[in-house]
Amino acid sequence: MTILSVVGARPQFVKLAPIAQECATRGIEHVIVHTGQHYDPMLSDVFFTDLGIPHPDVHLGAGSGSHGVQTGAILGAMDAVLEEHRPDWVLVYGDTNSTLAGALSAVKLHVPVAHLEAGLRSFNRRMPEEHNRVLTDHAADLLLAPTQAAREHLAAEGLGSRTVVVGDVMIDVLHRVRDELVDADAVLDELGMPSGGFSLATIHRAENTDDPARLAAVVTALQEVDHPVVLLAHPRLRARAAEHGLDLDGGSLTTREPLAYPRLVGAVSRARGVITDSGGLQKEAFALRTPCTTVRTETEWVETVELGWNVLVEPGPAVAQAASRPTPEPTDAAPYGDGHAAAAVLDALLAPRPGP
Ligand code: UD1
Repeated sequence: MTILSVVGARPQFVKLAPIAQECATRGIEHVIVHTGQHYDPMLSDVFFTDLGIPHPDVHLGAGSGSHGVQTGAILGAMDAVLEEHRPDWVLVYGDTNSTLAGALSAVKLHVPVAHLEAGLRSFNRRMPEEHNRVLTDHAADLLLAPTQAAREHLAAEGLGSRTVVVGDVMIDVLHRVRDELVDADAVLDELGMPSGGFSLATIHRAENTDDPARLAAVVTALQEVDHPVVLLAHPRLRARAAEHGLDLDGGSLTTREPLAYPRLVGAVSRARGVITDSGGLQKEAFALRTPCTTVRTETEWVETVELGWNVLVEPGPAVAQAASRPTPEPTDAAPYGDGHAAAAVLDALLAPRPGP
């Protein structure tokens, strides 16, 4: 059995870590293909080092570009990789351009594809991630859903028979990082922030960064929070702010470079709140029971909102209000599984498949 993982962007490296570990434990051959979508060391290499992921076997060097150029570059380069390795499964992760390109390349060559994090929906067809998810789910042979809500979305689209609920591999990683790797005090010292007295922010989604008026509203809102806010600035955000002549630092807001994953977890665990448009961070905040404010009109991680630990806001005064709200009701709910999702993924990939 050979499994070939296609990854390329920051959150995919995090999801890859427990899968790589589980393959190693079970002695399964695992080929790692890095598409090159993310290439800055802080968005890429540092995750492999910190999370103990083996070096990629193949690097496609696709780099940045428009959605079409980036997706096409990966798709074009994958043929030769699949011909060479002839895997039993191609495994694609999440909802980036690397996910869609990896899935399409496998389908075209009749290699079975499994989609990890299948069935999430924002129902916002303007998001590139929504196109990537929907198209990948419909291309894939095996849909590895993180939650019951995701399974229901897939069933509603006629994909129920290909779906298995496995839990969320990000919880696997979080447990490991929290237990083994984090020195939260050192991270707070470095950020210059008091434990429990600051909000941690990340903003990078195209829908928040690419429209100058919306970006200005987001930045002003963060600057007006009544306690310190540390913004970990993604390169997309910095590039767009510079283009539009916007100063990020000011008022309550200070920017820093992105943090390596274990340090991010340390910072979230000690923050008063998280303010973000990231998908993964909403769940990480929930798992660490740090209240989250999400600057979006919808979320794929509806459980965090239903349980009271996440609120969706428009850029504006609602951000500051939400960031200062009282701590939500405690909950023992674990909608994202028990931290053993990677084992369930491998069980599903190794299970006998029905014939054609
Ligand atoms: C991508 C994913 C998004 C995911 C995010 C995680 C898509 C459509 N979007 O968004 O779902 O949440 O990754 O971070 O796949 N850049 C650098 N260095 C890098 C990579 C990018 O400077 O290493 C800059 C470039 O200016 C680039 C821009 O960031 O054009 C956007 O990068 P891209 O990979 O296209 O999308 P992300 O915004 O990172």
